[in-house]
Amino acid sequence: MDNTAPNPALDRFPAGRLAFPHRDLTGIGQLERHEILYLLASAEQWVELNRQSAKHAGLLAGLTIINAFFENSTRTLLSFEIAGKRLGADVVNMHAAQSSVKKGETLIDTAITLNAMRADAIVIRHGSSGATQLIADKVDCPVLNAGDGSHEHPTQALLDALALRAKLAERGEEAEDFTGRTILICGDILHSRVARSNMLCLQAMGAQVRACAPPALMPAGIEAMGVEPFSNFDAALEGCDVVMMLRLQQERMAGQFIPSAREYHHLYGLTKARLASASPEALVMHPGPMNRGVEIDSEVADMLDRSIITQQVEMGVAIRMACLDVLTRTARGVEGWSV
Ligand code: CP
Repeated sequence: MDNTAPNPALDRFPAGRLAFPHRDLTGIGQLERHEILYLLASAEQWVELNRQSAKHAGLLAGLTIINAFFENSTRTLLSFEIAGKRLGADVVNMHAAQSSVKKGETLIDTAITLNAMRADAIVIRHGSSGATQLIADKVDCPVLNAGDGSHEHPTQALLDALALRAKLAERGEEAEDFTGRTILICGDILHSRVARSNMLCLQAMGAQVRACAPPALMPAGIEAMGVEPFSNFDAALEGCDVVMMLRLQQERMAGQFIPSAREYHHLYGLTKARLASASPEALVMHPGPMNRGVEIDSEVADMLDRSIITQQVEMGVAIRMACLDVLTRTARGVEGWSV
């Protein structure tokens, strides 16, 4: 793929801005709407590359990217690794379980160690909210948040937006943003960094966002985030264009938040019958990993015409390629919004 070729999708972005104005990607909260749209447009070119048999671009040749994961991951770790490799970088994965963290090394000393190895970008997943910012403050290279505690998972929200936009385009409903659409996020809102990043991202893109959870799993004062809260799933579903389901984050729960998985499924599980309360043709999303039979039934998750869960995974590689490209431009001596 010729990466120097003009990309018409990017032409509408402000020519006066000389560089992406952030060194790090710690959350959607730091991004302006036009920066989100820019990252999405930029990722669209990588979707095309990823569908070819030859998937390599040499944009990041010579750069070293370290993926430091202090929590388990399948999608995020692998897609950051694939994204870096497809762009030509040397990619190294640090799994905390096999690292000197297990010998008592602190998070900050670990960050300083990675920095001393002259990484050109560090991707962090950590169980503590704010850990990514803490590391970003200690190192000299861009830091990308791959999920920090219950705080944010910005590349997940970006890939969700990219997948939704692609599906709408496939249906002939092409639109730059989600103005006029109602999107419901349902599940363990309290512990979910995916919910938080998506509330910010979807609203920045014009959507009306609803949040539905059992009262014990709904953050106090959620209205301040601009979303409409519900505890009744059937009421929340009415008129929704998109339903995004979240799993119960047992690893972040201290104590019992729900009576049982069976009870939870009865009240908050997305079944085919329940999906009928949403708009006709409403789309179904889930960031994964799914707990089938708890928050979502297989017959819904696997609906070819309505579920875009697999497309979300596909878009994960492209959005991470776009983020790695944009954030390493200073290291590569590349200026400007255009690729
Ligand atoms: N959606 C998501 O972050 O999945 P992983 O935990 O598998 O990375």
